Amino acid sequence: MFPAAVLRIALLILVPVSFILSSYLYLYPIFHLCAFPSPEHAATSSFSTTVRQHIPFSRHDPKKIAPFRLLALGDPQLEGNSPLRDRQAQTFPNFSKFWKDALLLDGTRHNPLQRVRHSLHDLIDFYLDDIPSFFELFRKRLDHIGNDYYLGHIYRTLNWWADPTHVTVLGDLVGSQWIDDEEFENRGWRYWNRVVRGGVRVPDELTTQPSEASNSAKILGDDAAAWKKRIINVAGNHDIGYAGDLSPARMERFVRVFGKANYELRFQMPVDHASATQENVENVENDERKRPVPELRIIVLNDMNLDTPASSKELQDETYHFLNEVITASQDVSRPAHFTLVLTHIPLYKKEGICVDGPFFSFFNGHFDNGIQEQNHLSRDASKGFLEGIFGMSAATDAPGQGFGRHGLVINGHDHEGCDIYHYINQTAPPEQEWLAMRWKDAHSSRLDEEPGVPGLREITVRSMMGGFAGNAGLLSLWFDEETWDWNFEFANCGLGTQHIWWLVHILDLITLAIGIVYSVMVGIRSMIPVEDPVFMMERMGNGKVTMLKIETATEGKGGNGNEITVAGLMPTSGKLDVPGAGKKSLRKKKSGRILNGTLNGSSPPR
Ligand SMILES: *[C@@H]1O[C@H](CO)[C@@H](O)[C@H](O)[C@H]1NC(C)=O
Repeated sequence: MFPAAVLRIALLILVPVSFILSSYLYLYPIFHLCAFPSPEHAATSSFSTTVRQHIPFSRHDPKKIAPFRLLALGDPQLEGNSPLRDRQAQTFPNFSKFWKDALLLDGTRHNPLQRVRHSLHDLIDFYLDDIPSFFELFRKRLDHIGNDYYLGHIYRTLNWWADPTHVTVLGDLVGSQWIDDEEFENRGWRYWNRVVRGGVRVPDELTTQPSEASNSAKILGDDAAAWKKRIINVAGNHDIGYAGDLSPARMERFVRVFGKANYELRFQMPVDHASATQENVENVENDERKRPVPELRIIVLNDMNLDTPASSKELQDETYHFLNEVITASQDVSRPAHFTLVLTHIPLYKKEGICVDGPFFSFFNGHFDNGIQEQNHLSRDASKGFLEGIFGMSAATDAPGQGFGRHGLVINGHDHEGCDIYHYINQTAPPEQEWLAMRWKDAHSSRLDEEPGVPGLREITVRSMMGGFAGNAGLLSLWFDEETWDWNFEFANCGLGTQHIWWLVHILDLITLAIGIVYSVMVGIRSMIPVEDPVFMMERMGNGKVTMLKIETATEGKGGNGNEITVAGLMPTSGKLDVPGAGKKSLRKKKSGRILNGTLNGSSPPR
């Protein structure tokens, strides 16, 4: 069979397969029915609303689209070069050692046998150590590049399909706090140019301190195109370190590359009274006084050094100062239409077995001021501070707002598996009330969230977007309900699948493309060769006659094996080539073997 024929069959199979798989990969949110939850609470309505947004000229009801849609990405953890090991892999150390040992360059005195023994060892290490680690280095680099684009695929595709108004990455943007500045910059470059390509950090002038946030509140929906591009980066332990290894230098480079670690963003959403009912219109003036403007408060918090001991007291004071400002600048707990969204990295305390990660702390011993080396959750006290400080909840029924605190939500990362939790405190449980946690699914089905005397708050830990966790992304919708004059939210996950799918599809596409190019080139070249022109060959036969051999160039699809040779012209009538004496053999030696092979060994010489 001719190569072109094989390629054509391969293409007939590969082109449709590549097309189908690529469509799946590039349109995965559609296949997985991903959409920001719609204020109507029905999954089908969320999806169909999103579909309608993508169909030109189709009308969609803006009331069905939440005005605040947050794309929440967890723990991308960009891995990268480890400078020391990589440099070693690039220099083939055993090869240079081979020369040293063979030529006694480093001045050692060896007898010839030792010399041979050492250099042979070096050579073996070169082949079995240096060369594999050199290839391993390149495999690793390729893997990192692919992973960057895999993560970028999630961001870009959901940005297009689901159309978020805001985007956050919930910490651990890079995979290690121990890398040097150059490598940190390098990963920062990869983050901005591959993972969230087109995204920009939140400009410093928009990040406010809590005390000034209420004076610089923005209108939700204004400047929408710019907000969609801004990435609200949260600091994670792999970005700046846990309390033990969090240093001013690590904080400084994080702020420089990814933005501030502590700030507040405040949005207001004036409600359009034109859409109000008749009854409401009569009360507009009344409403204005009675019903404060809907407000959304976003708190970006570095919770890496809330717990002690911390090696940098200064940075810990900064975090506590910020937190205190958050608390003092809070709206009254009784203020309606106010929603507090906290974006942070380490989850709140909860007992073992509720989420995948249980409570865990470890401390440096003898260095970094014995600071925190690792932690899975915040301590019980820090968590309590969150719930009772930022959210103003309380076990005491005589506290403002009966201890029910402010409406809100905590979103974080860290536990790569993800979790959805309800923290609550039973105000009537004797003798001492404590904060407990339960899966949101269970809390909601047992209506714990509606129970009187049990204030509570939901905490969503977003599953990691890494390939090992199926490329997950969180979709949070927040909308305002004019009936209850309060905010509502709903959360959904959307997974792409492991990174292997991404690799498989792109490798297949490359193979298909390569075969397509080779095939086109072959077809192109063949179309330039004048195939219809017969090639004639004069053959002087032994008996003095001239035989004309017409050799037809192989043309695929034009009969049989295409390698046919027609003998025409002055053929001996017998139909057999009149080969004198030695016959085939001697002729083959004298003349063109190629032709003769075709002619004489051909299955059926024409008669
Ligand atoms: C709260 O505590 C009271 C008194 O112990 C108990 O009867 C009630 O069931 C508890 N509620 C919840 C939701 O745990």
